[in-house]
Parts: sequence; C-alpha cells; structure tokens
Amino acid sequence: MKLYKIAYKSLIAAAMMCAAGTVHAAGDDTEARIENLLSQMTLQEKVGQLNQLSGYGYHQAMVDAVRGGAVGSLLNEVNPEVVNALQREAVENSRLHIPLIFARDVIHGFKTIFPIPVGQSATWNPSLVEEGSRVAAAEASSAGVRWTFSPMVDIARDARWGRLAEGYGEDPYLTTVMGLAAVRGYQGDDLSKPGTMAACVKHFCGYGASEGGRDYNTTWIPEPLLRDVYLPPFKAGAEAGAATFMCSFNDINGVPSSGNAFLLRDVLRGEWGWDGLLVSDWNSIGEMVAHGYAADKRHAAALGANAGVDVDMEAHAYSDNLVSLVENGTVPVSVIDDMVRNVLRLKFRLGLFDNPYVDMATANRFYEPASLDAARRTAEESAVLLTNNGVLPLKNVKKIFVTGPMADAKHDQNGTWCFDMEKDRTVTPLEALREMYGADNVIYMPGLAYSRDRDTSHFDDAVAAAKAADVILYFGGEEAVLSGEAHSRADISLPGAQTAYLRALKAAGRPLVTVVIAGRPITLPEEKELSDAILFMFHPGTMGGPALANVLSGKAVPGGKLPISFPRMVGQVPMYYAHKNTGRPTFEMTLIDDIPLEAGQTSTGCTSYWLDAGLDPLFPFGYGLSYTTFEYGVPELSATEIGTDGSLTVSCTVTNTGSVTATDVAQLYVRDPVASLARPVKELKGFEKLSLAPGESRTVTFTLAADDLAFHNLRGERVVEPGDFHLWVDNSSACTKQPITFKVK
Ligand code: NOJ
Repeated sequence: MKLYKIAYKSLIAAAMMCAAGTVHAAGDDTEARIENLLSQMTLQEKVGQLNQLSGYGYHQAMVDAVRGGAVGSLLNEVNPEVVNALQREAVENSRLHIPLIFARDVIHGFKTIFPIPVGQSATWNPSLVEEGSRVAAAEASSAGVRWTFSPMVDIARDARWGRLAEGYGEDPYLTTVMGLAAVRGYQGDDLSKPGTMAACVKHFCGYGASEGGRDYNTTWIPEPLLRDVYLPPFKAGAEAGAATFMCSFNDINGVPSSGNAFLLRDVLRGEWGWDGLLVSDWNSIGEMVAHGYAADKRHAAALGANAGVDVDMEAHAYSDNLVSLVENGTVPVSVIDDMVRNVLRLKFRLGLFDNPYVDMATANRFYEPASLDAARRTAEESAVLLTNNGVLPLKNVKKIFVTGPMADAKHDQNGTWCFDMEKDRTVTPLEALREMYGADNVIYMPGLAYSRDRDTSHFDDAVAAAKAADVILYFGGEEAVLSGEAHSRADISLPGAQTAYLRALKAAGRPLVTVVIAGRPITLPEEKELSDAILFMFHPGTMGGPALANVLSGKAVPGGKLPISFPRMVGQVPMYYAHKNTGRPTFEMTLIDDIPLEAGQTSTGCTSYWLDAGLDPLFPFGYGLSYTTFEYGVPELSATEIGTDGSLTVSCTVTNTGSVTATDVAQLYVRDPVASLARPVKELKGFEKLSLAPGESRTVTFTLAADDLAFHNLRGERVVEPGDFHLWVDNSSACTKQPITFKVK
C-alpha cells in the first residue's frame, strides 16, 4: 500500500518555478508605478519608507509619523482595528498615500501553534511545513499581518545554540527543502491574494555558526564552507522568490552582516539577482557600534545603506542620519532610490496599493478545525522514537501514572516565539491521556513543578503512587524559555532534578517511558539506560497533547527522524554527521574506563575521538525508530559511470518487515573520497518519505546529477571533480552497510 510518496528533488524545482512566478505577479506596470512614485518623493519621504518601527497601538506620535511619511512599515501590531486605523492615516492622510506594511514574528503559527520549526523538520515531510505556513499566513493576515519574519534557514551544528529551535537543523539539503516549503506556504502562488504573507528568509548569514553556540557571537566561516553549507538555503529562497530577507546579528569573518557588502551586494543582489526587500535585524545597524565596526550610529547608518540593507528595524539610524548623509555625499541618492524601490516593490507585490485594509468581516479567523488537525498531524509526524524495548505502543494498560514537569505545561509545550499563542487553547498530554484512557485510569502527580525545579521532596510520594499503575509516563524536557533567541545553554542535559527523578521512578519497578519535550537536542545517556523507551518531541505546540497520546497508544506510529545529531555529552559539540574524516579516522577506540593504569602514551591508539565520549553521537542525524522494522536492499544504479554533466538514477527496495503500517524516510547519502579539498564523510542528497503496509516492499528512485556533487574550492569556484564516489541509501546517516561506488569521468 502506498499512502504517499514525495520526491523532494522535484519538489524543490517546482517550488522554485511556482514561487518565481509570484515575483512578477504584481503586474508588468509595477516598475513603472514604482518610478512614478519615486519621482514624486522628497528625500525625507524616501528615508521614511526605509524606517521600520515597533508599533503598539494607535497614538498621536505614531499617527504623526505615519501622516508625515516618516515610517514605511511597522512590526508587532496585531489588532486589525488598529492596523486599519493606522493604514487609513497612511493611505488617506499622508501626502503620497503609500500604504504601510504590518509585520510580525509568526514563526510556527499565529494562534494555532505548530511544532517549533526544528520539530517540523523532524517530520521530513515538507508538505506539512507548507500546510503549517499556510495556516499561519491565513490566521495572521486575518489580523492584519502581511509580513512574517520566517523562515529561519540558519544551519545549526551546535546544540547549545538556543536559536536552532527556529530552524530546520544541521543539514543544508534538508533545510533547503523545508525552507522552500515554508516560503511557498506563506506566499502561496500569488502574494497579492488574501491569506498570504511575505516570507522573510533569515538570518543572512552564518548566524548558526556562532562560536561556542553562544547567541549573537562571532563567526568565522571560510568561503568554501560558506558557499557549500551556509548559503544554499538562502540561495534557493532567493531563486524561489522569497519576498524579503533579514540580515543576521553576527559578524562574519570580522564584518557584521548588517554592513557586509560582500554578502548583501555581491552575493545576494549580484550573483543571485534577487530584487526583494532586505531588512536589518532589530537594531542590528546600531549594533555595528558595539561590534567595533562603526564609530557611532551615523557611521553605522552609512555602512548599512552602502552595504545594501534596505530597511532599518528599530535602530532609528536611517531616520536620524540618512538625509544628511545623502546631502554630504556619504551615501549616494541612487543607493537610497534603490532601497526605496525594493520597499515599494514589496508593497505592490502584496497588493497593498489596491487592498490596504483588513476585511473586518473575515478578521481574526483562528483555530479552524482543519488547522488544528494539521497541527496535530505535524506534531505526530515530528515524534522521534529514540529507544524502545517493546513497551511502546502501550498495550493492555489499565492504570497509567503520568508525571513530570511537561505533562501539563500549557505555556511551555508551545516553545519559543509564539507571542500570540493562547494558553487556554493548548491541549496537554495529561488532558489528552485522560480523554483517551478515562480520567479515573490516569494517576497524575507532577513530581517536579517545572523543568528547572530542583525540589526532590515529592519524589517519595510520586514513587509510591506510581506503584499502583501499569506503566509510568514521564514527561520532561525543557521549558520554552530555555531555547530561542538569547537562550543558549552550556549544559544541554535535562535541567533541574529530572534525572534524579527518573532514577527514583525506575525504583518503582514499573515500565518507564520517558517523553522528552524540548527546544534542542538533549544529552540523554543515563536516561537511555533508565528508560524502557524514550520518545522525543521538539516543543509541539497547541495539539502536542493529542499527538503524544496518539503516538504513545499506537493510534499513530512514530516516523520522525532527527534533523540534528544528538550528542552523548555537550563536550562533543559542534557535532554533525557531515564532518571530515581527518587524517586519523577512528576504527577502534579505548575508552577512558578501559585504559590500564600507567598505560603508555600511545597505547590507546593515536586516532581522532574523545576518551570519555568516543566518536559517535548518542543518536545520529536522520535516525528514528518505528513500531515496525524496515529493511533496505542493495541500491542499484542506472549507470556506474557518468560525465560531469550527466546523471544517474539510484533505486533501492524498502520493505516493511514488521506488523504495522508505518512511514520511513529513505535517505540518499554520497561521499567524494578523493578531492582537491577534503570532503565530508557523507552528505545528504535526497530523501523520500514513504508509507508501507506490513510485508509491503517498494522501490524508491532518486535522480543524482553529477552537478549535485559539486563543491566550492579555495578560489570560490564551484567544481565537479571527476573520480570515484560512494553512495548509500538507508534510514539514518549512520548507514551501516557497505557503500556502492560510481565514477564521474
Ligand atoms: C530579533 C530576531 O533575531 C529576529 O529573528 C526577529 O525577527 C526580530 N528580532 C524581530 O522581532
């Protein structure tokens, strides 16, 4: 039985074609209308369009700014009546009647909250990401928001970095597929239609490479790495017609992104030919002073404008300085004109000149049943089963002991960035389990009040109560506030007394299922030993409770795969599957407890690993168990030799060898074992999610072009180098079988 099959290579191509059509959908006369408006604008009015303010409410200062043409866009206003009132001031009472744009961080839903983006990525199902983004756009635009600062496509290889919650994980290919799906969901096939929002691909660029995983920190990214790993999702977004980009807070090789002419002018506008709107991050132009790159805000304004940042978000650097910087010749007026063109182009693309107002008859449309259903399905598909000795799905259980700080945490299960979330609409695991098994059959004691709680005084009572149940379901993890912007951690284990609590629960002698709900990978070595099963969910949103109840009970089968490696311990980070081999790869290791006393210096071997952590992650990228098992055949190639402009197909038979219908993700990895720059030990080049009935086999087919094997050399050239390549098809990056070899001539 085939429930669905999605070939993601063609999906990328389709997304690019459809969305690219959107770019020009504003009408052929758009450029003429832009020029006409521009010719009527004073320098002050031009600079006003480049000024973005945070707007809370309708008040005199804001009205004056809008009427005077001193502001072009607002963020954070979500009351449609206020949106309309301010828009009326712009459209009816400003000299040139140019509408405002209202923006908001709608990151994983507006009211109906979907899993955080890294959780959406764990579904390996871009159609769900697209659907979630479409729901977010419909809900937010019904409140007047037509521009979201999403998706974030920063590659994150350091689990300490709190913002990885907002992206799609460690891999450029997976991130590209998911980022494009989000853009398409937000923008639809015509940005001027109601129910759409302009997407904002962020943060350009390299933000996820912050040293030590500390947010906002410095990055050093050599050009081959930049072009092979960090830029591809942005390039795809630009080519797909993402309407806006945001630059990042970090400095990259010493130059803050907000003043980085190489990235913003040469690459984004020059090489990629993108004609959208580029917004700074919040005060990031002003922050070039703290970076030590600008002498003062005025200098920063000149650097930002000359580097190509169109809109200044909340630094007031442009509004205070650009007019005089133009007058004294520091910033050419032609630069300002181009920036204004980009702003006006977005307003035309959004159809705001024709339809500036929220239709109050359809305003504030939230929580449609289909939206809640999509949120639940996405959460279900995001569940990653990390270990299971057979305790899951739950069978023959009458009494369930539900415990832990995330069992009934309405606020925290929604994760970071959900300003507009309403707690009352959130369904927790406790509520869903009571509904499913009957309230009388669920014994609940939190044990710990919140994830950082260190108070162990309730453990004894909880353990005594647990003994009356057939199974213990522990819901732990991290509160929402422990991930997201400015929320990095140096220790990524379960916070508070959670591990101690699991030790105590283990002593109750009942099967122990550990459900971890968090915003980042958590190190779980001891928890793995203590638990009969570990089910991981990144903060799952509004419908996380029903989704978890369905997965635990077997009503839904877990099929999520990790979009980011889970280290054994934090000292292993940065940790990612696509690492280099080193000159001393590890085949055998002597771990710290096995080293004899007074062992000789070289007796443990001189290879590349940690004495106390080995080499591998605890759970690798692409990994996730099911309630069934799958077997992968030997991949077959249509050709064993191709030219540098050729391609081949890879076919592999996947069989469901267990007893329930379930999904799996066939993943195609390649390696270039000899190249002019050392290449990663594996790189994801394609994946396909498929559903198979018990005993059913299906053949997945990937097309692999020689061009997919290209990389950037030290001269910045993109090259396909002839030679042998290795290839695997498997359901995790661990790829345990021997690779198949083919040749590029
Ligand atoms: C700062 C964040 O880095 C960015 O992602 C967000 O969109 C802006 N603030 C606006 O809230």
